[in-house]
Amino acid sequence: MKTEIIVCDPENFTENELLCAADSIKRGGIVAFPTETVYGLGGSGLSDLAVAKIYEAKGRPSNNPLILHFASVDDISGFAECSNDFFKLATAFMPGPLTVVLPSKKRCAPAVTAGLDTVAVRVPIHPVARALIKLSGVPIAAPSANISGRPSPTDFSHVYYDLNEKVDAIIDGGECSVGLESTIVKLGDEGATLLRPGAITLEMLKEVLGEVKVAPEVLAEPKKDSVPLSPGMLFKHYAPNAPLFLIRTRDKSKLASYMEELAENAENAVICYDGDVEEQNNVFYLGKREDKLSQAKNLFSLLRKADGTKPKRIYAPMPDTDGIGLALVNRMLRAAAFKIKDI
Ligand code: TXA
Ligand code: MG
Repeated sequence: MKTEIIVCDPENFTENELLCAADSIKRGGIVAFPTETVYGLGGSGLSDLAVAKIYEAKGRPSNNPLILHFASVDDISGFAECSNDFFKLATAFMPGPLTVVLPSKKRCAPAVTAGLDTVAVRVPIHPVARALIKLSGVPIAAPSANISGRPSPTDFSHVYYDLNEKVDAIIDGGECSVGLESTIVKLGDEGATLLRPGAITLEMLKEVLGEVKVAPEVLAEPKKDSVPLSPGMLFKHYAPNAPLFLIRTRDKSKLASYMEELAENAENAVICYDGDVEEQNNVFYLGKREDKLSQAKNLFSLLRKADGTKPKRIYAPMPDTDGIGLALVNRMLRAAAFKIKDI
């Protein structure tokens, strides 16, 4: 299939530029678009056919449900049972990088929720994403716009590499500002549970809701026969082709010298904090050690970049779990298939 490329500057565009893409979604097509977290691959949340196309293009198992994206919080109550806690979260964090799992009113296409009684809802803050949803006139079902299992796309080039000729259109809106997928919180009779950490941190959620449980799968390796709260946690994720190893230590200078040593072997790709290792072809900088927001923004992009040099192995430092560190560790553990080396 021919994929149309639409270039759209998020800081300076008119809705006219998105009419074609919105039209495609209305007619059951699938379109990749930028959000503040990662690029999404969107289709009408009312069409099982469009959702089937999304699963097919990504090579995604159809038992892993999608997030429904809305232009405004007001539109959500038509599709989900909105509790008081939901409105508290919405007031604090929507629009923004937060997804909430709520009881479904079953008005969306059944394929969106993969047969669950709940539905995941989110209102992105990215202006292009919001304009696209509004113009389409339907909630947009969208997973991340990568081939299933690969690192999520945080720039147009990643989406193009994975999905060109597999989708109707790709909107090029430049780099995503957050770089990690939205935080997912489930609200139900059992209270609030964090299913996937993100830029809206556990600390921020607790400030609004009080108690928030953390699903065991956030940091632990899922057991083979376990039933995780979020089906997505079962699958291999974010993985580069070369095996990734995480290096864990509290000793900063030990980490720097260990990474330096690893970089001496040209078969290794080394992802490190700024300044830890001298610049060379197999070294990739994640950002300053204290600047976790930059690290979040760079992680997926660097995994793709490092992998592109066809190394035998990739190494990266494992951060602590404070703030957005929890999201970084959650993604890195999966990308590394839980391979950690303590030094
Ligand atoms: O930032 C994001 O959330 C991006 C952008 C495009 O919005 N989307 C995204 O979608 O990351 P995806 O499909 O890659 O990840 C969605 C996760 C999956 O792990 C899925 O299992 C989980 O959300 N999920 C969706 N519906 C759910 C539900 N009803 N209950 C529990 N988990 C659900
Ligand atoms: Mg994904």
